[in-house]
Amino acid sequence: MKEKIHQILKDVSGFSPENKEEIEQFRIKYLSKKGIVSGLFSEFKDVPKELRKEIGQHLNDLKNNVQEKINSLNQSFEKIDEPSSSENDLSLPADFIQLGSRHPLSIIRKRIIDIFSKIGFTVSEGPEIEDDWHNFTALNFPEEHPARDMQDTFFIEKNPDISLRTHTSSVQVRAMESGKIPIREIYPGRVFRNEAISARAHCIFHQVEGLYVDNNVSFADLKQTLFYFAKELFGEKTKTRFRPSYFPFTEPSAEMDISCNICGGKGCNICKYTGWVEILGCGMVDPNVLDNCNIDSKEYTGFAFGMGIERITMLKYQIKDLRLFFENDLKFLRQFESAI
Ligand code: DAH
Repeated sequence: MKEKIHQILKDVSGFSPENKEEIEQFRIKYLSKKGIVSGLFSEFKDVPKELRKEIGQHLNDLKNNVQEKINSLNQSFEKIDEPSSSENDLSLPADFIQLGSRHPLSIIRKRIIDIFSKIGFTVSEGPEIEDDWHNFTALNFPEEHPARDMQDTFFIEKNPDISLRTHTSSVQVRAMESGKIPIREIYPGRVFRNEAISARAHCIFHQVEGLYVDNNVSFADLKQTLFYFAKELFGEKTKTRFRPSYFPFTEPSAEMDISCNICGGKGCNICKYTGWVEILGCGMVDPNVLDNCNIDSKEYTGFAFGMGIERITMLKYQIKDLRLFFENDLKFLRQFESAI
């Protein structure tokens, strides 16, 4: 009898029903008049006198145990069935739906595109995986140029070289090769360089480059276009200056600075106390590049420029660490919602 009771206790404790119906069947199986526990009680009369006290105790415990199990199971199912009072209350405000927001880089990319669209530039895109011709050779990069090094470029294949594009200038080449002149286009896109990640550099970043090719395009056109751009994006009071520079694909080449929009040109740690910050590279398209792309450099001239969207966004919003753009921290990203 003791063993029987022990076995039943084991079965009872292992019981885990899927629904209330199963609990009712369990109750009938054990506690109804013809159930297992009642059966044991009727067998009790045959238990020898000396064991009665002990076995009686066990039997009562078993009965209580089964009853408790049924009660607690019923209770737990009631909790599931019953909708919580707040769910029933239709007057409560609805759950708050969190709206997403644009990434600061997307906001600034759109601003840049809008500004150039107003003066007739259209948007064009090209592949992120490029061959050597479009990324380097057509752009007049000499064979030994460091940008062609493993240290700077992510190569996918060697001989012939295929790499992740290091700038969107490759899309300029594709536009010129298409042979349709005039070209007045901008090229936003993602670019890749094999650089250590820091507050000021990342191996993935974004650029917008621009190209204007036609008869009689001059350096004056370049300057006026970029003056307009800087004032539209950073405000009417923004001053600009050009410094001579070097790029293989432009001649002459320049870098454009704007008066520091944080200190207004007085000098601060962002502009390193010079009052100026560099925002882009530019120049007149080198005649070699035009010829490489089958455009007659005696008939046509062009200007080109290129800027990093991260850098422009950091200046615009006074962001000090470029890694924030890639961390997906909502506390950072939500600050720009109202800027859309
Ligand atoms: N491709 C250059 C870079 O990645 C940026 C640039 C500079 C583009 C001058 C141009 C340009 O079109 O004229 O750093």
